[in-house]
Amino acid sequence: MINKIKKILSKKNNSKIVCLTAYSKTIAKILDKYVDIILVGDSMANVLYGHKNTHQITLKNVIEHTRSAKMGVKKSLLVVDMPKGSYKNLKTAEKNAKLIMNKTKCDAVKIESNKKNYRIIEKLVKKNIPVMGHIGFTPQFKKKFKIEGLTILETKKLLNEAKLIEKAGAFSIVLECLSPTAAKFITTNLRIPTIGIGSSAFCDGQILVTDDMLGLSGFYPKFVKKYVNLERIIEKAIKKYTREVKVNKFPTINNFLNGTKRRK
Ligand code: KIV
Repeated sequence: MINKIKKILSKKNNSKIVCLTAYSKTIAKILDKYVDIILVGDSMANVLYGHKNTHQITLKNVIEHTRSAKMGVKKSLLVVDMPKGSYKNLKTAEKNAKLIMNKTKCDAVKIESNKKNYRIIEKLVKKNIPVMGHIGFTPQFKKKFKIEGLTILETKKLLNEAKLIEKAGAFSIVLECLSPTAAKFITTNLRIPTIGIGSSAFCDGQILVTDDMLGLSGFYPKFVKKYVNLERIIEKAIKKYTREVKVNKFPTINNFLNGTKRRK
């Protein structure tokens, strides 16, 4: 097991695991200084490509964005979402997970659970591919958004699903949109860390889509905390630039390339 994963596991019951998404070097480089896990999520479908759901994201898309993100990562664990359909059976999953790992040099892949596909995790882990699981609202398999784990029966079923994923060898598991009671119950009954999104503070760690928390995506459900309104800040800068170009205030004599260092 690679050291970065051992470090994540050691945080269970000790310190919170901080995770965010990145699809490019620029963002990954900033996140890398602070977070434990960077996920190249298939949320890029909505955030970057304007799709209604995550289904149209391809292996090529995730590989290209991960190669970019990887350039900004020195210390965090880099996890890549396997796109819908890329792990539909054992053979396809192994071929595509190996392709992602080889082409991007990422540390692990993430697979959404459809309640039956834990054998795929088992197979990948046996082939030395670290896997993060994902239960609750899994956008690749569920159309309708709903909070899960609102009854004892549903919570027990979710725990059972999580236990199968843990037994299959996943090193951690995302809990998306579970009730606080279910998140707490699952977190205390698993040995591997749980990473929550919209699932309360009872998880071992938290993840958000970076563009959402930066106020850039236009998608702000209640579980997203907008830490800054970047859209407004960027707009202000663009407006200023536009005005300056139009009135000949930019560029000035100071903006010539002569003597300036090229960016690395
Ligand atoms: O695609 C993604 O960004 C995700 C997170 C929301 C967990 O799967």
